[in-house]
Amino acid sequence: MDDKLLAHHIAERRTFAIISHPDAGKTTLTEKLLLYGGAIKLAGAVKAKRGRASAVSDWMEMERERGISITSSVLQFPYRGLSMNLLDTPGHADFSEDTYRTLHAADGAVMLLDCAKGVEAQTKKLFRVCRQRKMPIFTFVNKMDRPGREPFDLVGEVENVLEIGVYPVTWPIYRGATFRGIVYRGFHKDEPKRVYLFDAARAGVSSALLGSEVAPVTVTGLDDPALVRELDDEGYSRLLEESALLDEAGDAFDGDRFLAGEVSPMFFGSAMNNFGIEAFLEAFCQRMPPPVAREGSKGKVDPLGAFSAFIFKIQANMDRSHRDKVAFLRVCSGRFERGMRVHHVRTGKAMRLANPTTFLAQERTIVEEGFAGDVLGVYDPGVFEIGDTLTAGENFTFEEIPSFSPEFFVRVMMVDPLRRKQLKRGLDQLAQEGTIQQYTPERGGDPILGAVGRLQLEVVKHRLKSEYDVDARLEPLACDFVRWVSREDGGELDLLAFDRERVGIPARDVRGRAVVLFAGEWQLNSAKREFSGIKYTETAFGA
Ligand code: G4P
Repeated sequence: MDDKLLAHHIAERRTFAIISHPDAGKTTLTEKLLLYGGAIKLAGAVKAKRGRASAVSDWMEMERERGISITSSVLQFPYRGLSMNLLDTPGHADFSEDTYRTLHAADGAVMLLDCAKGVEAQTKKLFRVCRQRKMPIFTFVNKMDRPGREPFDLVGEVENVLEIGVYPVTWPIYRGATFRGIVYRGFHKDEPKRVYLFDAARAGVSSALLGSEVAPVTVTGLDDPALVRELDDEGYSRLLEESALLDEAGDAFDGDRFLAGEVSPMFFGSAMNNFGIEAFLEAFCQRMPPPVAREGSKGKVDPLGAFSAFIFKIQANMDRSHRDKVAFLRVCSGRFERGMRVHHVRTGKAMRLANPTTFLAQERTIVEEGFAGDVLGVYDPGVFEIGDTLTAGENFTFEEIPSFSPEFFVRVMMVDPLRRKQLKRGLDQLAQEGTIQQYTPERGGDPILGAVGRLQLEVVKHRLKSEYDVDARLEPLACDFVRWVSREDGGELDLLAFDRERVGIPARDVRGRAVVLFAGEWQLNSAKREFSGIKYTETAFGA
């Protein structure tokens, strides 16, 4: 393929994730994006059922509907000549590690807020990851059809709590206390303003009937009689006042600061009612950048270079009848072709990537090619780990994906010793997927698992039973955290000494690296007093 065509394909790619607190409307917004993109005929295909039982049963329900829950984690659809890769993520806080990794594969994010709740706990956590990666972030304030907080109050909260600038691209208008629509301010003062009126009567109509929104009313300015007619005196003067305040007090939109994740364009609307989505999508398509160069061990990796990718997610048993394992890779540069030979940098082996697959709702499609920005699933014969780099040109690795320090620890007790082998296979698999971390005690004995959330441990138990037919008892371990340990002088470490002196539980992670599990800061401090010259790190990187 010639360079021009390659550049053209890459320039069309938009790879992003939606971050939000559960219930803010992420599933609804995702459905609407697909609906607008023409990728699905009816909204409602993303998550078949929205049972609001406990989070665990929610997961198990999803587990039963695996095809849907998993495929909805990577959605590809065309929109206005662009090729969208939407990375969806589990909303529950206990799965946030999965979400962190997914954000690593994205080039930008849409932060979704509930207009009545503003910035919630999970939003804050996820936002922090986006901030670390300095990625552009759009803000969509949802559920505007319902009573909510004052818009200026929401702007202030985002600015103060998340420490990011806000630039309102749309602004809500009211008639009395009732939400009446939005005015599109655009990114420059001289952009023509448009008004989108919210039609409450249409709001109740099934979204399936609404392929698009009510056509916007283009107004010459805020003094346009068309607008005056739509609002009562109070609503109109409020709009004038607020607009003046935004124009005078707000900074002009700064494109560079937006790309660096320092200022977020904000939109208002209602995903459920298809309202405000078009204005948002238009701005999104205009401003969301295509893939940019990523950091690798040999410097920046130009998206236009030879093929390179990294694995950010591994999922086993997606299809029960085939027991297959799929590794999700994010293409960072170049072109990918079905069956192509690539270099697996960690193992130093050459390999062929079989059956690259893309996902849309319930369907999987084998693809012939992919480009920088795309996310593809490839068959994993058991060789991949999260963070692995694949290249077709020069050898290098991408930055490691941070792994979060687990907070819950259990010992895995066998109920039926005859199924030891299956247990090992199951645990190895789940650890490789990154669902949990697994540690082998240096002194021998039952394996230890660490998880970021309690729910992950429930899932492990459930999957061991359903996928490997192993009953396991998970016994809580009185540990608070784990540290990777090594000698500062690089010498041999006497790991068992921690056991002898009773300052923590020494063990090995899946790659054989030395770790110690501690019951609390006090115990880590005792270890530090007991042994000198030892380095303790919170992630495996420094080890
Ligand atoms: P999530 O994926 O972020 O968890 O949120 P989801 O889309 O499932 O939405 C959570 C609830 O909020 C759903 O109601 C959904 O219908 C509702 N919702 C989403 N967008 C809007 C909106 O713009 N306005 C209003 N008023 N509600 C909205 P539910 O009762 O939990 O589910 P369902 O019975 O509607 O399916």
